[in-house]
Amino acid sequence: MIAPAVPLPPLPQLIERKRDGGRIAPAEWRLLAAAYARDEVPDYQMAALLMAVYFQGLDREETRALTAAMLESGATLPLAHLDVGRVDKHSTGGVGDKVSLLLAPLVAALGVAVPMMSGRGLGHTGGTLDKLEAIPGFRTDLTLEAAARQVERLGCALIGQTAEIAPADRRMYALRDATATVESIPLIAASIMSKKLAEGLTGLVLDVKLGSGAFLPEPARALELARTMIALGADHGCPTVALLTAMDRPLGHACGNALEVREAVLALHGDAPDDLLAVTYALGAEMLVLGGAAPDRDAAHQAMRAAVADGRAARRLAEIVAAQGGDPRVVDDPDAVLPRAPIVAPYEAPRAGVVAQVEPRAVGRGVIALGGGRTRVEQRVDPAVGFVLPVRPGATVAPGEPLGEIHARDAAGLAAGRRALDAAVRIVGAGEPVPAPLPLLSHRVSAVGVEVLGA
Ligand code: URA
Repeated sequence: MIAPAVPLPPLPQLIERKRDGGRIAPAEWRLLAAAYARDEVPDYQMAALLMAVYFQGLDREETRALTAAMLESGATLPLAHLDVGRVDKHSTGGVGDKVSLLLAPLVAALGVAVPMMSGRGLGHTGGTLDKLEAIPGFRTDLTLEAAARQVERLGCALIGQTAEIAPADRRMYALRDATATVESIPLIAASIMSKKLAEGLTGLVLDVKLGSGAFLPEPARALELARTMIALGADHGCPTVALLTAMDRPLGHACGNALEVREAVLALHGDAPDDLLAVTYALGAEMLVLGGAAPDRDAAHQAMRAAVADGRAARRLAEIVAAQGGDPRVVDDPDAVLPRAPIVAPYEAPRAGVVAQVEPRAVGRGVIALGGGRTRVEQRVDPAVGFVLPVRPGATVAPGEPLGEIHARDAAGLAAGRRALDAAVRIVGAGEPVPAPLPLLSHRVSAVGVEVLGA
């Protein structure tokens, strides 16, 4: 990095400038991020600046500069020597979203390198790292060097953000979480893209969630986030495509760490809820085309179906699990390997009617109430608990009809789970209005523009 020529102005001046609608220059962002990563800027000043950014926003050049500054505050995955495409997928977060668990081995089995860096559960949403760690022995804390070697060998590593990757973002994100400054489009875009670009990718696919369970439920805001991240990808030579997908109901049936691993494994054997498979294949098709392993999306769909049918995708997952210290038998016999909650009880319809909504935020909070997620960073999660909820909006139900299962550690958990589902599963009388669910795959956004899919 070339040392910026200007010194960093005193922090109160920078904060004041941003507070009053001014700009922070690229060189200033660089100095600030580097100083913050070295612990030379106090959190109270950074928090004030972030709040000013929250209200005043960042223009395109500032967003680009902040992203580059956070990226350059740390190391990158040493993968540039690989002669295959390197493509990752990032989801903005949802409930029941176990797509990464099946997508990464599937795409890797078809010849694209997938250096996948994931996060832990955040707010009401689950996190891929927590899900993977439900597999006994599975380690997500590989060093960058070890992850790079595994990608060379197996085409995929499933890791967490190491201390070496974008340390300025790591600190800033924790501060934002504690100061109500997460929901800012430029801050979210810069935070996500600084980490993704550190993976040394040749392409990136984004799954931007819409609906009540998404962090940005409104389509216009989700589209703006997608466009901002696509522009940042283009600025850094990383072609980026986004699909906008529904999060007004959970994805698939299982919500909870081990239960989601089980559903993902069964999906790799061809036994999957339709919505989970449709989202996985749509994202996978984009990855395979961006990674140069398929000429178009139709060919990519065919290749993925074949890799599931002949077992290549499942075998690749077993290899990745074994390489990262986990028990690879999870792929052939998940029930023998995954932790199981002591109590499994049906959730029954409390009355007759039509299911108007299965609200994902309430389901996600229910998983946390069962112990399967966190309300504080340092909490341990219980991998075994959660829900299996095949019921979908529009279903006509009779009183006492089983709509799903609650997997709980104890009687208090079971009661909390039942309360959460009473709030999440809204049943209305026959003839009352039932809101139309969002299209599962609504928009495709690329550098070229927005395509309405509406499927
Ligand atoms: N995920 C991130 O990594 N950063 C954000 O700002 C929001 C979600």
